[in-house]
Amino acid sequence: MVQSVLLVFAMDAEAQPLIQALGLTEDAPPKIVGPAPCVTFSGQHGDLQVHVVWNGKDKDTGVDNVGTVPASLSTYLAVMAFKPDVVISAGTAGGFKAQGAAIGDVFLGTAVINHDRRIPLPSFDKYGIGYSLCLATPKLRSHLGLKQGVVSSGNSLDYTDKCMEIMGQHQVAVKEMEAAAIAWACNLYHVPLMCVKAVTDIVDGDRPTSEEFLENLHAAAAALQATLPRVLTEMAGKKLSEL
Ligand code: ADE
Repeated sequence: MVQSVLLVFAMDAEAQPLIQALGLTEDAPPKIVGPAPCVTFSGQHGDLQVHVVWNGKDKDTGVDNVGTVPASLSTYLAVMAFKPDVVISAGTAGGFKAQGAAIGDVFLGTAVINHDRRIPLPSFDKYGIGYSLCLATPKLRSHLGLKQGVVSSGNSLDYTDKCMEIMGQHQVAVKEMEAAAIAWACNLYHVPLMCVKAVTDIVDGDRPTSEEFLENLHAAAAALQATLPRVLTEMAGKKLSEL
């Protein structure tokens, strides 16, 4: 039975709408002590215990700690602290129109890979891709009418030709910067992972990513916020096999 869920966010702008909507409060005293920069919030949504971990800000630049390294640290520490039944990697992503993505769509992840870990050595090549299945949630997906596809993570907002080739080989639908690292930490604890990603920009389109990302960040965060409480409601009290 799903009784508690942990949502992992990289950016404050992605996390705040849900924190406000569910009335979650920052855990005090902190559940995760420094020097780890992440910040946690908790509360209830119906019968479900909801925890959020946000990767916090980089102290030198003041920007959100995006990317794989902070994401795996936050996930590892927050799963240890909260022992959730399911983890959700939530946030924004670039979408591939070749896989049916449009700005503002919300996707559920079927699996995650890394597109920027290219290690052409025996077995390290497979490790580099780090393919990991997400929790299958076919009923939830059809009830909420969400699109689905493979999520690919890398530490750059842009991509190289080689990244694009790998994403094409795996029919990636959304590209972001954390999910595969979150999956790695979840797999250590054998906790299932879901990905819920709202599209800010079209990777295989013709507009510069950074321009499109900044233009659509708040609209995509709103789409994410409209979807996440419905996802949580669908999960509450169900067996994983019923999702
Ligand atoms: N987050 C939002 N859009 C993205 C993109 N195109 N690449 C990586 N992360 C993103």
